[in-house]
Amino acid sequence: MGGGGGACAIVFLLFNLLLLSRNSFSHPLCIDSSKFLHSFVVSMFRSSIPVWHFLSVFYLCRTDLLLCFFLDYVLLAAAPLTLNASLSFCGYDGSSCCNSAQDSQLAKQFQAMKISNPGCSSLLKSVVCSRCDPFAAELYPAKRPVPVLCNSTVAATSSQSNQADTNFCSQLWDTCQNVSMLNSPFAPSLGGQAGLPNNSNSTKLTDLWQSKSDFCTAFGGESADDSVCFGGEPVQLNTTGTSTPPAPPNGLCLEKIGNGSYLNMAAHPDGSNRAFFANQPGQIWMATIPDQGSKTTMGVDEASPFLDLTDVVNFDTEFGMMGIAFHPNFAQNGRLFASFNCDKVKWAGCNGRCSCNSEVNCDPSKLAPDNGAQPCQYQTVVAEYSANATSTTPSSATSAKPAEVRRIFTMGLPFRSHHGGQILFGPDGYLYFMMGDGGGTGDPYNFAQDKKSLLGKIMRLDVDNIPTAQEIANNSFWGNYSIPSDNPYKLDADLQPEIWALGLRNPWRCSFDSARPSYFLCADVGQDQYEEVDLITKGGNYGWRVFEGNYAYKPPATPGGNTLPSSINPIAPIMGYNHSTLSKNEGSASITGGYIYRSQTDPCMSGRYLYADLYASNVWAGTETPEDSGNFTANSIPFSCTKDSPIPCTTVSGSDAPSLGYIFSFGQDNNNDVFLLASSGVYRVVPPSRCNYACSKENATAAAGGPAPSAPGASSASQLQRSSRVVVLLLASLLFMFSCI
Ligand SMILES: *[C@@H]1O[C@H](CO)[C@@H](O)[C@H](O)[C@H]1NC(C)=O
Ligand SMILES: *[C@@H]1O[C@H](CO)[C@@H](O)[C@H](O)[C@H]1NC(C)=O
Ligand SMILES: *[C@@H]1O[C@H](CO)[C@@H](O)[C@H](O)[C@H]1NC(C)=O
Ligand SMILES: *[C@@H]1O[C@H](CO)[C@@H](O)[C@H](O)[C@H]1NC(C)=O
Ligand SMILES: *[C@@H]1O[C@H](CO)[C@@H](O)[C@H](O)[C@H]1NC(C)=O
Ligand SMILES: *[C@@H]1O[C@H](CO)[C@@H](O)[C@H](O)[C@H]1NC(C)=O
Ligand SMILES: *[C@@H]1O[C@H](CO)[C@@H](O)[C@H](O)[C@H]1NC(C)=O
Ligand SMILES: *[C@@H]1O[C@H](CO)[C@@H](O)[C@H](O)[C@H]1NC(C)=O
Ligand SMILES: *[C@@H]1O[C@H](CO)[C@@H](O)[C@H](O)[C@H]1NC(C)=O
Ligand SMILES: *[C@@H]1O[C@H](CO)[C@@H](O)[C@H](O)[C@H]1NC(C)=O
Ligand SMILES: *[C@@H]1O[C@H](CO)[C@@H](O)[C@H](O)[C@H]1NC(C)=O
Ligand SMILES: *[C@@H]1O[C@H](CO)[C@@H](O)[C@H](O)[C@H]1NC(C)=O
Repeated sequence: MGGGGGACAIVFLLFNLLLLSRNSFSHPLCIDSSKFLHSFVVSMFRSSIPVWHFLSVFYLCRTDLLLCFFLDYVLLAAAPLTLNASLSFCGYDGSSCCNSAQDSQLAKQFQAMKISNPGCSSLLKSVVCSRCDPFAAELYPAKRPVPVLCNSTVAATSSQSNQADTNFCSQLWDTCQNVSMLNSPFAPSLGGQAGLPNNSNSTKLTDLWQSKSDFCTAFGGESADDSVCFGGEPVQLNTTGTSTPPAPPNGLCLEKIGNGSYLNMAAHPDGSNRAFFANQPGQIWMATIPDQGSKTTMGVDEASPFLDLTDVVNFDTEFGMMGIAFHPNFAQNGRLFASFNCDKVKWAGCNGRCSCNSEVNCDPSKLAPDNGAQPCQYQTVVAEYSANATSTTPSSATSAKPAEVRRIFTMGLPFRSHHGGQILFGPDGYLYFMMGDGGGTGDPYNFAQDKKSLLGKIMRLDVDNIPTAQEIANNSFWGNYSIPSDNPYKLDADLQPEIWALGLRNPWRCSFDSARPSYFLCADVGQDQYEEVDLITKGGNYGWRVFEGNYAYKPPATPGGNTLPSSINPIAPIMGYNHSTLSKNEGSASITGGYIYRSQTDPCMSGRYLYADLYASNVWAGTETPEDSGNFTANSIPFSCTKDSPIPCTTVSGSDAPSLGYIFSFGQDNNNDVFLLASSGVYRVVPPSRCNYACSKENATAAAGGPAPSAPGASSASQLQRSSRVVVLLLASLLFMFSCI
């Protein structure tokens, strides 16, 4: 921003504030210092990305376009720390976004402001310290130098925050307006910009702002159902009236729409009613998804796969094609990705560095024979393919070429199990790659905690900027990708640059909430006690194998050493279940992660996280109370198959329960409808009334003439209307921004 930037900044700030009132991402999260919204928007414009592309990026986040705007910022947030002692200056204890070093930095910053008035001084101290609040990421949207100050005098109705009814902004103005301070964070030109000003002059609020109303328009904000504001005290979610979670759904109703046994489903990125399904041996099909209520099966021609990689995929109990992902701009660029296992004895292309190597204190020649005839005989591969050559536009392509376009990743595996393999484009456009600890009971080499190993990690790769072969070699990358500049190694130099999160055992199915991109949930398969669901954050350590869930874990053998519990700050699971609670054979439980349900089809499931056990005896709905708190309670819920299912379901002998076989995975289509991918076929969640599960919300929507369960189009239309308002606002803001640059 050049001259005249001040005015631009103010107007831009105002636009931002209009937009901010619509955000929703409020589980506890800390500010990330490495990037902020303002530079993000500017850099998008400078990189000459056409506006339609920009819009298609928005389009990706179907349910709330606005979120895409904040995405970058929100996704970068890290989980709060768990403190042993309270901070000596700021006083936060338990959960906080500051460690003691940051606390003393804030103390210095505050003292440098030289505020003489005691009343104002204590208010400003609380403002400065709000950076340590576990909700700091939300209090400081777009890296404002000042948190959102609660300004509501009337809206005491927030179910979100207790601060709803304090008018802290007004109180701050009244107390501090005539008080001089150095380096005032309230300078108008700072709107939307990071850091404190470098202004040695002493200023009063009245020097900077015409009136309380101007001041509070810029810095104030209300606590709404999906956001919090700062009211002078640490953020307290309003639990009164909401501490008992809404009753779990009475049941999950399914219909069977396909006979195929798939491990992966991916909605067609063009937004149509099509989706891709991939099986473990290595074939991908494109299928049409029937309308809800049409009582027809999915349209798929088993004889003509979209892509067949069975020649290169090594298929065995724990091996095969483990993931597929379509580039967010697939409809324009035809790029698709497959994640699979291969056998280097059988295929020359299966030739990567061994994950057991001297850098991680592992000698491949000493690995147990579980690894195969040769060390690292089995490998994990992510490869890129193209649908370009088979059609004039990728969107109309009905097949892709099996010739590999580019190798994204190859790594030799130490054992035969726990190698995850899911790939997923995040709402930020980066490729997330889920990797297990590599197998062996209790992660013998301690790979999941080893920051130099990529086993037991979630990786985040940039597949849009491919470095030269020389750069790849220089950086010892495992393939053709680059590292997003904001990956957490920037904050922790010990981490390999690919790593986004660590301490996972075998992440089996992760998803981003389509309504709230900061909710990145992964189920992580346990050893023999606990199956867990984790809320994945930047740089988060999920504890394995120091912990299994919240339980301390003792491995039977530790050739690779141990990690001291006191040396890590593990993040506890948000949901899960004991193996013993399934009362099955010991060790038989294995979690399969699903989705936060966002379809209108089953309004009683709305907003709940759906997951299951592989053995299909249990399905859970996780309910968050209060809403947006990150505090989930899971309930095992009944499930059944509707009598009028397009393909009749078989039942478990001697009961009404549908016999699903194994629940391998879940899927989500472009209507946000959720699917269970089971060994016996593809099942879709349908309105609960079709299984006689009572759901008063379903009756309410039907009675109100709203989105009838059989016509999901209606709900998308209202969603679109809501969203288009935001788009207009966004465009106005961006165009304005453009004229400022
Ligand atoms: C808390 O939320 C409930 C509604 O869920 C509301 O009635 C109540 O006034 C709120 N309390 C505060 C202190 O904001
Ligand atoms: C601040 O100054 C104004 C104008 O001088 C005065 O009217 C007001 O009472 C003062 N407020 C405080 C809190 O000192
Ligand atoms: C403030 O500005 C002065 C001179 O312009 C410069 O020497 C100093 O480093 C700056 N301080 C900070 C913290 O940016
Ligand atoms: C500080 O105040 C003086 C006198 O009012 C002014 O000339 C100078 O530009 C101010 N400095 C800054 C950094 O605003
Ligand atoms: C409170 O903040 C909102 C959002 O910034 C703003 O629109 C409103 O005018 C403010 N209200 C008051 C009373 O200042
Ligand atoms: C979390 O949810 C449980 C169950 O609904 C509730 O009892 C508890 O108060 C909630 N905790 C917080 C911190 O809100
Ligand atoms: C699914 O399998 C059943 C039983 O084998 C068969 O009757 C039905 O036609 C199949 N449906 C589809 C869509 O393949
Ligand atoms: C496919 O074609 C599009 C448009 O012609 C082009 O931009 C893209 O790079 C191609 N993709 C591949 C993988 O060749
Ligand atoms: C990059 O991709 C090319 C083309 O597939 C491949 O030949 C090369 O080996 C890949 N580089 C790495 C490090 O995998
Ligand atoms: C790779 O490393 C070599 C030796 O350290 C250096 O000379 C070369 O410039 C580097 N190349 C790139 C592309 O980074
Ligand atoms: C889960 O298992 C642990 C020990 O393995 C036990 O202490 C705990 O009570 C169990 N919890 C439930 C809910 O069964
Ligand atoms: C909702 O509607 C279904 C069928 O339309 C009916 O069977 C059920 O009793 C109704 N439930 C309630 C709670 O009104």
